[in-house]
This record gives sequence, C-alpha cells and structure tokens, in this order.
Amino acid sequence: MHIVAPSILSADFSNLQKDIELINKSEADWFHVDVMDGVFVPNISFGFPVIKAIKKYAAKPLDVHLMIVQPERYIKQFKEAGADHLSVHIEASTHLHRTLQMIKAEGMKAGVAINPHTPVSTLADIITDIDLVCMMSVNPGFGGQKFIEHTYSKISQLKELILKCNAKTLIEIDGGVDLKNYRKLIDTGADVLVAGNTVFSSDNPTETIALLKK
Ligand code: DX5
Ligand code: ZN
Repeated sequence: MHIVAPSILSADFSNLQKDIELINKSEADWFHVDVMDGVFVPNISFGFPVIKAIKKYAAKPLDVHLMIVQPERYIKQFKEAGADHLSVHIEASTHLHRTLQMIKAEGMKAGVAINPHTPVSTLADIITDIDLVCMMSVNPGFGGQKFIEHTYSKISQLKELILKCNAKTLIEIDGGVDLKNYRKLIDTGADVLVAGNTVFSSDNPTETIALLKK
C-alpha cells in the first residue's frame, strides 16, 4: 500500500494544531514538512521552532524536506526538532555520502531530493545508501504548482535503478500531485505521494486524503 504525506506548507499557519489533528485522524501516513531558506529556493518557509510545535501534536512521522544550502550543518538540530526522515537536495550537498551517513547516525531515515532537471543517473552510485528519493515534480519553492509530466519517465528510470541494485529505496513524488494523476504515479512506481494544495484547498481534506489512499 502506498504512503500519503500531506504537506504542512499548505496548512493554516494561524491554526496549525487544527490541521495537525486533522492529519492525525485521517488515513494519512506521514507529515511532509518543507523547510526553505530563501537561498536554495526563492522562498522562506519556517524553521526549528515551528517543527518543534508540529512535533508536539503530530502522531505520525515527520518527513522533513530541506530546501536549504549546506544541509549538513543542521542535521542534529533537525533531529532534535523532531524529524523522523530527513531529505537533502543532491544539488545542495557536495559530500552527499557523508551527509547521508550523518543523518542515519542520528537515527533518521535518509532521503535525497532531486530537482526536475537532475537526471536519475546521478543517483546510480549512491542508491543503496538512500532510504527515500524525493523526486520533485515541480520546481521546489512553492505549493500549488503545476505537475511536470516528464516525471513519469523519471519514476520508471528510478524504479529500474532500484530493482537493478536490489535497493530498498522508496520513491516519493513531491509537487502537483492531485486526484487526476495520483493513480498513474502509483502505477508507474511511486511509493509515497506528497500533497499540499490538493489536500488543504479541498472542501473536505480528510476525504481527499482517503481518496489519495485508494
Ligand atoms: C514544494 C514543496 C512541496 C509542496 C507541494 O517546494 O517541496 O512539498 O508543499 O505542494 P503541492 O502539493 O501543493 O504542489
Ligand atoms: Zn516537499
């Protein structure tokens, strides 16, 4: 069964507890938490105090997606803030292998996020060390953007690489996931669906999460 991870970026920041409880009670599996630094991406989201506040009420794992430069500087702090999974961008981490070992040493699942222009082949020599590939299906920085269709062929390539290497890596799709494309994403090989706008802009987020789980 695939995993659904609603993105807190699209939640109501003036009443985060309400949306956290909604996710707790829903069929969602994880919380997806987007951290942006205004340097790696042209937007700033939130940092440690907000993640700690989310952790206080979240009854499901925090899947933290770092859109920041030099993510290796903050691994310990994200663990302390409550991250269960920590994904760094391949484009932002010079010594990716070391960074992944540092994340695992803190007891977190290690994720690697790749931008839409980054070839799947860049993961070939590191795939067995990655717990989760966060494949961006929009350019990172904002919620509510349009899904990039080329993602399907990248999912197929990644699936092939994972099978060839006998890796246990999960494929997570992040950006523009909706009720029209989620089924094809799963059929193509996705294991985890991140959804922000689709969940929180809907009339009934709980029901939308249940539909994404079907
Ligand atoms: C984009 C973030 C996404 C975002 C997805 O930079 O990484 O996680 O919240 O939002 P939607 O589902 O609205 O595209
Ligand atoms: Zn994300």
